[in-house]
Amino acid sequence: MKIGVLTGGGDCPGLNAVIRAVVRKADAYDSRVVGVRNGWKGLLELAPMDLDIKMVSGILHIGGTIIGTSRTNPFKDPADADRILKNFRLLGLDALVAIGGEDTLGAASRLYEKGLPVVGVPKTIDNDLSGTDFTFGFDTAVSIATDAIDRIHTTAESHNRVMIVEVMGRHAGWIATFAGIAGGADVILIPEMPIDLDEVCDLILRRHSRGKSFSIVVVAEGAQFAEKHGGSGRLIVQETKTDEFGHVRLGGISQLLAEEIEKRTQFETRYVVLGHIQRGGSPTAHDRVLATRFGVFATEMVHRGEFGKMAALQGSQIVAVPLAEATARIKTVDMDLYSIAEEFFG
Ligand code: F6P
Repeated sequence: MKIGVLTGGGDCPGLNAVIRAVVRKADAYDSRVVGVRNGWKGLLELAPMDLDIKMVSGILHIGGTIIGTSRTNPFKDPADADRILKNFRLLGLDALVAIGGEDTLGAASRLYEKGLPVVGVPKTIDNDLSGTDFTFGFDTAVSIATDAIDRIHTTAESHNRVMIVEVMGRHAGWIATFAGIAGGADVILIPEMPIDLDEVCDLILRRHSRGKSFSIVVVAEGAQFAEKHGGSGRLIVQETKTDEFGHVRLGGISQLLAEEIEKRTQFETRYVVLGHIQRGGSPTAHDRVLATRFGVFATEMVHRGEFGKMAALQGSQIVAVPLAEATARIKTVDMDLYSIAEEFFG
């Protein structure tokens, strides 16, 4: 068999571990693997890259993706989807492994309906894909954000400041919730719950009235102010230009929060945006293992002819779930988990 592999959307630690696993498992089946460069763009521009065992040697622990990525949407222009199907045949491919998040796998699901033999692998630091308990990359992002919160703690305490840490999380506050719990945040703000500034400031004031002289607030970039603050439904963005999937570039909520908190509490407040640091560098051991399991399983799915599905983690098992199901809706934060976090607020 000749198997294509592509990585789409924002990069994520563990992508190379999946590519390596696909190539190694395919080799065990006597199959060949071709890297499709830069996501769906590579099937529009035809820039294949042969991947053999030698080429994937030594990449397990390396961040990024050796085959590149892009946010190209194959359905932006209706003719592109047909071109992708045509080019797939032109390359002599028998199957495609698409490694991506909601956008890449949403497109994979639609292309499967049009006849593309595709298997998905769930990638995103945001952990917001349905059908899988966890995506790879998330654990690394949480570890980085937790380390940052630990560091912010000491400087916040030295200066008696309120510190706001802005983490990624466009639609869901998984990174904020996990890193907030792990880092002992005093308030965690996520896209799932509109920000009530009165409540946030009350929590900080309550904490300071207990003798604490500093506070840590963790906020997901996609969090929005409550309606009473004029914010409902309005994302805080760095620029209004959208990508091919219609997403704006988020960022800036922490700055607005810092201004409001300082004004209302009179406590000196600073903010820090962690940004792409959360997406770069080496994956954690957990993500390397998860990515490897996904890659091996996805290659087995290809050889079983189990297309239109995604490798997923459910409990401790890797299983196959329909792409249509995995991409039907965003997986938002489990409110039972968030209520654990709330126990430590203020
Ligand atoms: O989808 C993952 C993500 O990291 C989001 O949390 C973030 O909003 C987005 O990617 C940023 O993407 P880019 O750096 O490609 O603009």
